[in-house]
Amino acid sequence: MPRGKKVARVSKKKDEVKEYIKKAKEHFGEILEQQAKRLEELKKQEDFIDYSKVHPIIIGVMGGDGIGPFITSEAQRVLEHLLKDEIQNGKVEFRVIEGLTIEKRAEEMRAIPLEVEKEMKKCHVLLKGPTTTPRKGDPWPNIESANVAMRKILDLFANVRPVRVPSEGIDWIFFRENTEDVYALGPYGIEALPGLTIDFKMITRPGSERIIRLAFEHAKKTGKKRVTAVTKANVVKTTDGLFLETFYEIAKEYPDISADDWYIDIMTAKLVDPKRRRDFQVIVTPNLYGDILTDEAAEFQGGVGTAGAANIGKRYAMFEAIHGSAPRMVQEGRTQYADPSSMIKAGAMLLEHIGYVDLGRKLNMALEICGQYEKKLVITGRSTGATGRDFCDYVLETLSDPRLEERWNEYQEKVMKKE
Ligand code: IPM
Ligand code: MG
Repeated sequence: MPRGKKVARVSKKKDEVKEYIKKAKEHFGEILEQQAKRLEELKKQEDFIDYSKVHPIIIGVMGGDGIGPFITSEAQRVLEHLLKDEIQNGKVEFRVIEGLTIEKRAEEMRAIPLEVEKEMKKCHVLLKGPTTTPRKGDPWPNIESANVAMRKILDLFANVRPVRVPSEGIDWIFFRENTEDVYALGPYGIEALPGLTIDFKMITRPGSERIIRLAFEHAKKTGKKRVTAVTKANVVKTTDGLFLETFYEIAKEYPDISADDWYIDIMTAKLVDPKRRRDFQVIVTPNLYGDILTDEAAEFQGGVGTAGAANIGKRYAMFEAIHGSAPRMVQEGRTQYADPSSMIKAGAMLLEHIGYVDLGRKLNMALEICGQYEKKLVITGRSTGATGRDFCDYVLETLSDPRLEERWNEYQEKVMKKE
């Protein structure tokens, strides 16, 4: 090849690379501008809404996809039963919001359909069934997860996930940061050069402060003695480093609570260690580690089907199952055997959050009696077990037993004796 042509090719390639890099820089610049605005907003945040002053408290119910509508309506049934007086006297109102389906989201090419977004913003708290999250290669367009979008739109910064297995001495509560980390910029990664992809991880100081403070406040309120941070700050030095630094700064405000931290890898191991795991109490962590750790934790309690989550912000809160929409169960005609426990548990957290702490506590007791102790009906996800509806009736029947609390205490004592 004549030298002139080769030089021209090399310089064309260099120009191309330069062009790619220029575009990537612009892209990064736009992200920074957006995030700078968000940071300013975060700094001016107001306080938590006071539900005792809200009339009526509007509870929006969104079924979601797959088994979602089925298990969500079972949970709604329990809540309506427990709140019947409040519904009657107008303090609480239920509102079913249709349209948070994968079909509608694909049609509008939006993570949350516009009409749904408008309606959900008129509510105070939401009970939301699982939604299908498409990924590359699925028949659905690769739109952003509805969960993740909702958490961002409503600024639901705390994903609170309790896991209790009394027979193992496990009583954990996870505070997973919900609006930052790799999730926040998940849809905005770039293929900077052909074959060179970059995603962005973002953690802010005020974003870390608010979740860490919530975890310590919870420990203080419930008499827990230890708060543990989980990061990978030895490797992911800047973002996780900031989270960890903020953790120890805030810990100084709570001298009666011991603060320690673990890296995510060893933490996943320690949760399996029967000698160590019962010592953990309150765990606070950035978004992705929290996602992983809470699935692992839920497995001890009987699987993700039993775990509910609260997504809490200062103005809104959303309560959901921690698992997906289980399209396979629907395809195989097993919808009615889906376990509604996760959504009922989410409902118990909703009750506690809006101020009906005693109702929430009773619902949790009934769920534990039915799911972990008495087990008169067992859900297997197939026709070998109870239907979700029958299980929900069982929970309702247990709830209305005047001896509920006594029964729960008896089971607790039995479990303690066994240890
Ligand atoms: C969860 C889920 C979601 C998440 C998915 C569905 C996007 O796994 O709520 O933990 O990763 O946050
Ligand atoms: Mg998850």
